[in-house]
Amino acid sequence: MKAKDVIIALDFPTLDETLAFLDRFPAGEKPFVKIGMELFYAAGPEAVRAIKARGHQIFLDLKLHDIPNTVKRAMSVLSGLDVDMVNLHAAGASEMMKAALDGLTRPDGTRPLLIAVTQLTSTDEKALKNELLIDTPMAETVLSYAKNAANSGLDGVVCSPLEAALVKERCGADFLTVTPGIRFADSAVGDQKRIMTPANAAGAGCDYLVMGRPITQAEDPVAAYRRALKDFLG
Ligand code: C5P
Repeated sequence: MKAKDVIIALDFPTLDETLAFLDRFPAGEKPFVKIGMELFYAAGPEAVRAIKARGHQIFLDLKLHDIPNTVKRAMSVLSGLDVDMVNLHAAGASEMMKAALDGLTRPDGTRPLLIAVTQLTSTDEKALKNELLIDTPMAETVLSYAKNAANSGLDGVVCSPLEAALVKERCGADFLTVTPGIRFADSAVGDQKRIMTPANAAGAGCDYLVMGRPITQAEDPVAAYRRALKDFLG
Protein backbone atom coordinates (compact mmCIF):
# COMPACT_ATOMS: atom_id res chain seq x y z
CA MET A 1 0.00 0.00 0.00
CA LYS A 2 1.32 3.46 -0.89
CA ALA A 3 2.01 5.77 2.05
CA LYS A 4 -0.16 8.44 0.42
CA ASP A 5 -2.82 7.89 -2.21
CA VAL A 6 -6.05 9.08 -3.81
CA ILE A 7 -9.05 6.84 -3.10
CA ILE A 8 -11.98 7.01 -5.53
CA ALA A 9 -15.40 6.80 -3.81
CA LEU A 10 -17.43 4.33 -5.87
CA ASP A 11 -20.81 5.85 -5.04
CA PHE A 12 -22.84 3.87 -7.57
CA PRO A 13 -26.13 2.03 -6.97
CA THR A 14 -25.22 -1.22 -8.75
CA LEU A 15 -22.18 -3.41 -9.34
CA ASP A 16 -22.74 -3.20 -13.11
CA GLU A 17 -22.43 0.58 -13.08
CA THR A 18 -19.40 0.34 -10.82
CA LEU A 19 -17.60 -2.14 -13.07
CA ALA A 20 -18.49 -0.08 -16.16
CA PHE A 21 -16.83 2.90 -14.46
CA LEU A 22 -13.72 0.87 -13.58
CA ASP A 23 -13.57 -0.45 -17.16
CA ARG A 24 -12.74 3.08 -18.31
CA PHE A 25 -9.28 2.73 -16.76
CA PRO A 26 -6.49 1.04 -18.76
CA ALA A 27 -5.79 -2.57 -17.70
CA GLY A 28 -2.62 -1.70 -15.80
CA GLU A 29 -4.07 1.24 -13.84
CA LYS A 30 -5.76 0.13 -10.61
CA PRO A 31 -6.89 3.01 -8.40
CA PHE A 32 -7.46 2.51 -4.68
CA VAL A 33 -11.27 2.59 -4.32
CA LYS A 34 -13.86 3.09 -1.59
CA ILE A 35 -16.99 0.94 -1.34
CA GLY A 36 -19.63 2.55 0.83
CA MET A 37 -22.98 1.54 2.22
CA GLU A 38 -24.90 2.14 -1.02
CA LEU A 39 -22.94 -0.33 -3.13
CA PHE A 40 -22.34 -2.79 -0.28
CA TYR A 41 -26.02 -2.98 0.70
CA ALA A 42 -26.96 -3.36 -2.98
CA ALA A 43 -24.38 -5.86 -4.10
CA GLY A 44 -22.82 -7.20 -0.88
CA PRO A 45 -19.57 -9.11 -0.41
CA GLU A 46 -19.77 -10.17 -4.06
CA ALA A 47 -19.02 -6.58 -5.06
CA VAL A 48 -15.97 -6.54 -2.81
CA ARG A 49 -14.71 -9.84 -4.24
CA ALA A 50 -15.31 -8.76 -7.84
CA ILE A 51 -13.46 -5.47 -7.40
CA LYS A 52 -10.65 -7.09 -5.42
CA ALA A 53 -10.28 -9.75 -8.14
CA ARG A 54 -9.61 -6.91 -10.60
CA GLY A 55 -6.63 -5.89 -8.51
CA HIS A 56 -7.90 -2.81 -6.65
CA GLN A 57 -7.14 -1.93 -3.06
CA ILE A 58 -10.38 -1.38 -1.17
CA PHE A 59 -11.49 0.92 1.64
CA LEU A 60 -14.74 -0.62 2.91
CA ASP A 61 -16.58 2.35 4.39
CA LEU A 62 -19.32 0.78 6.53
CA LYS A 63 -18.78 2.81 9.73
CA LEU A 64 -19.49 0.08 12.27
CA HIS A 65 -20.99 1.07 15.64
CA ASP A 66 -22.42 -1.59 17.98
CA ILE A 67 -21.52 -3.43 21.17
CA PRO A 68 -17.87 -4.63 21.26
CA ASN A 69 -18.60 -8.33 20.70
CA THR A 70 -20.80 -7.67 17.67
CA VAL A 71 -18.27 -5.29 16.11
CA LYS A 72 -15.44 -7.75 16.78
CA ARG A 73 -17.27 -10.56 14.97
CA ALA A 74 -18.35 -8.33 12.08
CA MET A 75 -14.78 -7.05 11.65
CA SER A 76 -13.55 -10.61 11.50
CA VAL A 77 -15.92 -11.24 8.57
CA LEU A 78 -14.78 -8.04 6.79
CA SER A 79 -11.13 -8.97 7.32
CA GLY A 80 -11.83 -12.27 5.56
CA LEU A 81 -12.95 -10.27 2.50
CA ASP A 82 -9.33 -9.19 2.11
CA VAL A 83 -10.08 -5.46 2.14
CA ASP A 84 -7.28 -3.00 2.85
CA MET A 85 -9.02 -0.41 5.05
CA VAL A 86 -12.22 -0.43 7.14
CA ASN A 87 -13.78 2.01 9.57
CA LEU A 88 -15.98 2.44 12.63
CA HIS A 89 -17.46 5.24 14.73
CA ALA A 90 -15.16 6.42 17.52
CA ALA A 91 -18.41 7.15 19.43
CA GLY A 92 -18.51 3.39 20.15
CA ALA A 93 -15.70 4.14 22.66
CA SER A 94 -12.37 2.47 23.41
CA GLU A 95 -13.63 -0.99 24.38
CA MET A 96 -15.43 -1.28 21.04
CA MET A 97 -12.42 0.02 19.09
CA LYS A 98 -10.06 -2.47 20.76
CA ALA A 99 -12.51 -5.32 20.12
CA ALA A 100 -12.69 -4.25 16.47
CA LEU A 101 -8.90 -4.44 16.15
CA ASP A 102 -8.95 -7.86 17.72
CA GLY A 103 -11.61 -9.14 15.31
CA LEU A 104 -9.85 -7.62 12.34
CA THR A 105 -6.49 -9.28 12.98
CA ARG A 106 -6.06 -12.38 10.82
CA PRO A 107 -4.48 -15.60 12.13
CA ASP A 108 -1.18 -14.63 10.43
CA GLY A 109 -1.12 -11.31 12.32
CA THR A 110 -1.94 -9.12 9.31
CA ARG A 111 -5.03 -6.89 9.20
CA PRO A 112 -6.63 -4.10 7.17
CA LEU A 113 -6.02 -0.54 8.36
CA LEU A 114 -8.65 0.52 10.89
CA ILE A 115 -9.83 4.13 10.72
CA ALA A 116 -12.26 5.95 13.02
CA VAL A 117 -14.97 8.43 12.13
CA THR A 118 -14.88 11.12 14.82
CA GLN A 119 -17.93 13.33 14.35
CA LEU A 120 -19.69 13.13 11.00
CA THR A 121 -19.04 16.30 9.02
CA SER A 122 -22.83 16.60 8.62
CA THR A 123 -23.17 17.14 12.39
CA ASP A 124 -22.90 20.83 13.26
CA GLU A 125 -22.26 22.57 16.59
CA LYS A 126 -25.99 23.05 17.12
CA ALA A 127 -26.80 19.33 16.78
CA LEU A 128 -23.77 18.46 18.90
CA LYS A 129 -25.01 20.64 21.76
CA ASN A 130 -28.81 20.34 21.46
CA GLU A 131 -29.25 16.74 20.34
CA LEU A 132 -26.11 14.87 21.34
CA LEU A 133 -25.84 16.98 24.53
CA ILE A 134 -22.09 17.50 24.02
CA ASP A 135 -21.13 20.94 25.30
CA THR A 136 -17.47 20.67 24.28
CA PRO A 137 -16.78 22.61 21.05
CA MET A 138 -16.70 20.56 17.85
CA ALA A 139 -12.95 20.87 17.17
CA GLU A 140 -12.09 19.71 20.68
CA THR A 141 -14.60 16.85 20.48
CA VAL A 142 -13.10 15.67 17.17
CA LEU A 143 -9.56 15.81 18.56
CA SER A 144 -10.56 14.00 21.72
CA TYR A 145 -12.24 11.20 19.73
CA ALA A 146 -9.14 11.01 17.52
CA LYS A 147 -6.95 10.66 20.60
CA ASN A 148 -9.19 7.85 21.93
CA ALA A 149 -8.83 6.08 18.58
CA ALA A 150 -5.03 6.47 18.66
CA ASN A 151 -4.86 5.22 22.26
CA SER A 152 -6.98 2.20 21.29
CA GLY A 153 -4.39 1.25 18.65
CA LEU A 154 -6.28 2.41 15.55
CA ASP A 155 -4.39 3.62 12.50
CA GLY A 156 -6.08 6.95 11.88
CA VAL A 157 -9.26 8.96 11.42
CA VAL A 158 -11.55 10.20 8.69
CA CYS A 159 -11.52 13.98 9.00
CA SER A 160 -11.84 17.20 7.09
CA PRO A 161 -8.62 18.22 5.33
CA LEU A 162 -8.86 21.39 7.43
CA GLU A 163 -8.48 19.29 10.61
CA ALA A 164 -5.64 17.07 9.37
CA ALA A 165 -2.76 19.15 10.71
CA LEU A 166 -4.33 19.42 14.18
CA VAL A 167 -5.01 15.66 14.27
CA LYS A 168 -1.35 14.99 13.42
CA GLU A 169 -0.22 17.42 16.08
CA ARG A 170 -2.39 15.76 18.75
CA CYS A 171 -2.06 12.09 17.74
CA GLY A 172 1.37 11.88 16.10
CA ALA A 173 2.73 12.20 12.56
CA ASP A 174 2.16 8.49 11.82
CA PHE A 175 -1.54 8.61 12.72
CA LEU A 176 -3.31 8.55 9.35
CA THR A 177 -5.70 11.22 8.10
CA VAL A 178 -8.21 10.05 5.49
CA THR A 179 -9.91 13.12 4.07
CA PRO A 180 -13.04 13.59 1.95
CA GLY A 181 -14.13 17.09 0.94
CA ILE A 182 -11.53 17.38 -1.84
CA ARG A 183 -12.26 19.51 -4.88
CA PHE A 184 -10.23 20.82 -7.81
CA ALA A 185 -10.13 24.60 -7.81
CA ASP A 186 -12.37 24.59 -10.90
CA SER A 187 -14.79 21.76 -9.99
CA ALA A 188 -18.33 21.90 -8.58
CA VAL A 189 -18.46 21.98 -4.79
CA GLY A 190 -21.82 20.13 -4.53
CA ASP A 191 -22.93 19.51 -0.94
CA GLN A 192 -19.42 19.54 0.55
CA LYS A 193 -18.83 22.60 2.68
CA ARG A 194 -15.29 22.53 4.04
CA ILE A 195 -13.16 21.71 1.03
CA MET A 196 -9.54 21.76 -0.11
CA THR A 197 -7.70 21.10 -3.39
CA PRO A 198 -5.47 17.99 -3.72
CA ALA A 199 -2.36 20.18 -3.78
CA ASN A 200 -3.31 22.04 -0.60
CA ALA A 201 -4.31 18.74 1.05
CA ALA A 202 -0.76 17.49 0.49
CA GLY A 203 0.58 20.50 2.37
CA ALA A 204 -2.01 20.06 5.13
CA GLY A 205 -0.78 16.60 6.12
CA CYS A 206 -3.53 14.46 4.55
CA ASP A 207 -2.48 10.86 3.89
CA TYR A 208 -5.36 9.50 1.82
CA LEU A 209 -7.72 11.70 -0.18
CA VAL A 210 -11.23 10.36 -0.74
CA MET A 211 -12.64 11.79 -3.98
CA GLY A 212 -16.01 10.92 -5.47
CA ARG A 213 -17.85 13.21 -7.84
CA PRO A 214 -14.89 15.29 -9.12
CA ILE A 215 -13.64 11.99 -10.61
CA THR A 216 -16.74 9.81 -11.09
CA GLN A 217 -18.81 12.57 -12.71
CA ALA A 218 -15.96 14.01 -14.81
CA GLU A 219 -16.23 13.82 -18.56
CA ASP A 220 -12.89 12.01 -18.52
CA PRO A 221 -12.61 10.23 -15.13
CA VAL A 222 -9.20 8.76 -15.90
CA ALA A 223 -7.78 12.23 -16.63
CA ALA A 224 -9.42 13.62 -13.48
CA TYR A 225 -7.95 10.80 -11.37
CA ARG A 226 -4.48 11.33 -12.83
CA ARG A 227 -4.78 15.06 -12.23
CA ALA A 228 -5.67 14.43 -8.57
CA LEU A 229 -2.74 12.05 -8.13
CA LYS A 230 -0.31 14.48 -9.74
CA ASP A 231 -1.59 17.46 -7.72
CA PHE A 232 -1.46 15.46 -4.48
CA LEU A 233 1.76 13.46 -4.89
CA GLY A 234 3.66 15.96 -7.05
O1 C5P B 1 -18.36 13.12 -4.18
P1 C5P B 1 -17.50 13.47 -3.01
O2 C5P B 1 -16.06 13.75 -3.39
O3 C5P B 1 -18.10 14.55 -2.14
O4 C5P B 1 -17.47 12.11 -2.15
C1 C5P B 1 -16.91 12.04 -0.87
C2 C5P B 1 -17.07 10.64 -0.33
O5 C5P B 1 -16.60 10.65 1.01
C3 C5P B 1 -18.51 10.14 -0.27
O6 C5P B 1 -18.47 8.73 -0.47
C4 C5P B 1 -18.94 10.48 1.13
O7 C5P B 1 -19.93 9.61 1.60
C5 C5P B 1 -17.65 10.28 1.90
N1 C5P B 1 -17.57 11.03 3.16
C6 C5P B 1 -17.68 12.41 3.24
N2 C5P B 1 -17.60 13.06 4.46
C7 C5P B 1 -17.39 12.35 5.57
C8 C5P B 1 -17.27 10.96 5.51
C9 C5P B 1 -17.36 10.33 4.28
O8 C5P B 1 -17.85 13.07 2.22
N3 C5P B 1 -17.26 12.98 6.72
